[in-house]
Amino acid sequence: MPDVLLKVSHLKKYFPIRAGLLQKTVGYVKAVDDVNLEINRGETFGLVGESGCGKSTTGRSILRLIEPTSGEIQFDGRDIHSLSGAQMRGMYRDMQLVFQDPYASLNPRKTIEKLIEEPMIIHNMYTPGERKKKVHELLELVGLNAYHASRYPHEFSGGQRQRIGIARALGLQPKLVICDEPVSALDVSIQSQVLNLLKQLQQQLHLTYMFIAHDLSVVKHISDRVGVMYLGRIVELSDKKSLYEKPLHPYTQALLSAVPVANPNAKHERIILEGDVPSPANPPTGCTFHPRCSACMDICRTERPVLRDIGDGHMVACHLYNQ
Ligand SMILES: Nc1ncnc2c1ncn2[C@@H]1O[C@H](COP(=O)(O)OP(=O)(O)O)[C@@H](O)[C@H]1O
Ligand SMILES: [Mg+2]
Repeated sequence: MPDVLLKVSHLKKYFPIRAGLLQKTVGYVKAVDDVNLEINRGETFGLVGESGCGKSTTGRSILRLIEPTSGEIQFDGRDIHSLSGAQMRGMYRDMQLVFQDPYASLNPRKTIEKLIEEPMIIHNMYTPGERKKKVHELLELVGLNAYHASRYPHEFSGGQRQRIGIARALGLQPKLVICDEPVSALDVSIQSQVLNLLKQLQQQLHLTYMFIAHDLSVVKHISDRVGVMYLGRIVELSDKKSLYEKPLHPYTQALLSAVPVANPNAKHERIILEGDVPSPANPPTGCTFHPRCSACMDICRTERPVLRDIGDGHMVACHLYNQ
């Protein structure tokens, strides 16, 4: 039996849309609409989908940086709702976020030392002397130097800043790190260095990752299992091998066909995804992917397909696989 660290059940986040003088709620943006997933201890779970499909909102709802509309979250064998205030704070210490944009997420007026020790101060961890030592250790752990502690964020490159963001997240010795597109804002040449660092830290510190990305090529090397999200829902979920070798959902197939292949002579049919992601304020009926799907059938316009296991834990929400 896999050792489940995080279990998310029926997670929803609806943002109210307000209008008029009285700011009456006229509708909802269904950013996350019934997401279910489990992440096993020590693994990397990749969460992939086009921009706007609800990945960051999922991550932030799990961390309670935003309050979910509904759903249950179990972490490390405990139901989050049943915990007292102090236990809850302890648990959020065990889950940390690495932000997408290392330029925006570090306060430019604070030294690196202040930035890295801040979460430790908030959580009342260590004495000032211990914290200083910890900051130096963390800087070296992420491939920077102890003497960088007195410098400011603008003195660093994008890749170095993301290393600082990682050091900041790791100071509290978390069990789960949610990495929200940690390399999307970086030069391609730097991306693999940061990915390799994350991988190395995972082994060293026994970390569990949720790794968010908008394209399947980034998560390919780092993930053990992958969930594909479309308009607030997971439409396919499986172990990496099965997903990349035998993608089932037409959306996953289209995303994969957009990934450049190493061998240009290999037979590679490119599926063009027509149109943009529809608005989650007014999602299409039935299968929300049907207006863009090349395999659309009548049933797809009216009935929402459920995510089900079609063998060996490969889950898909698509009417093509309903016998
Ligand atoms: N605070 C917010 N208020 C209203 N709508 C939001 C808010 N945050 C995100 N959204 C909307 O929710 C949807 C999902 O956004 P997000 O989770 O950021 O997607 P992703 O990370 O996959 O790009 C988008 O349509 C976005 O505009
Ligand atoms: Mg995002």
